[in-house]
Amino acid sequence: MKKRIAIFASGSGSNAQKIMEHFKYSDLAEVAIVLSNNPDAYVLQRADNFEIPSHIFDKTVFYQTNEIVDLLKRLEVDMVILAGFLLLVPENLLQAFPNKIINIHPALLPKFGGKGMYGDRVHKAVLAAGEKEHGITIHFVNEHFDEGEVIYQGRFAVDAGDTLEIIKFKGQQLEHLHYPKVIENLLKKYN
Ligand code: GAR
Repeated sequence: MKKRIAIFASGSGSNAQKIMEHFKYSDLAEVAIVLSNNPDAYVLQRADNFEIPSHIFDKTVFYQTNEIVDLLKRLEVDMVILAGFLLLVPENLLQAFPNKIINIHPALLPKFGGKGMYGDRVHKAVLAAGEKEHGITIHFVNEHFDEGEVIYQGRFAVDAGDTLEIIKFKGQQLEHLHYPKVIENLLKKYN
């Protein structure tokens, strides 16, 4: 039976798009559902385009009920992927999917991570610090923002004159290339 993936995203969902594309014709796995805390997130449209069901929830449901865990269990989800998802994952979800929740972060963790560090804020901080190297991290999720065990890091040089748009683009290229492959490799290790 195919492995089943749930994607959580709060915004545009360009990574979710690459994952949905990657597994569209896969024999190994399929994206079973896309979930978002943001009813205006463009990722919902992207899911629609792939005819993948989506689910919107609010913070109260996420933090004070078991609804989301129950939904994922009912859908027989094997792996949970965070792709630009900005809420901290609650304990009940972590316990329901031990070592099965992964996140992507647009920096070389542990640098430039933690609460409030997302999207352009990360890249601005990297430029302000005069970093010569930047990159992406894919990691297991734990109860803290951006802190679980690292699975993969990709690096690139920050060249003189690089703007926020340029380093963001370099990072996105790496994310889009590697996130689906890392997910595939992890899924292959599951029974
Ligand atoms: C990605 O760059 C991802 O690394 C980042 O949000 C972006 C989402 O883009 N995640 C974080 O900053 C988490 N702390 P997308 O919606 O186009 O995939």
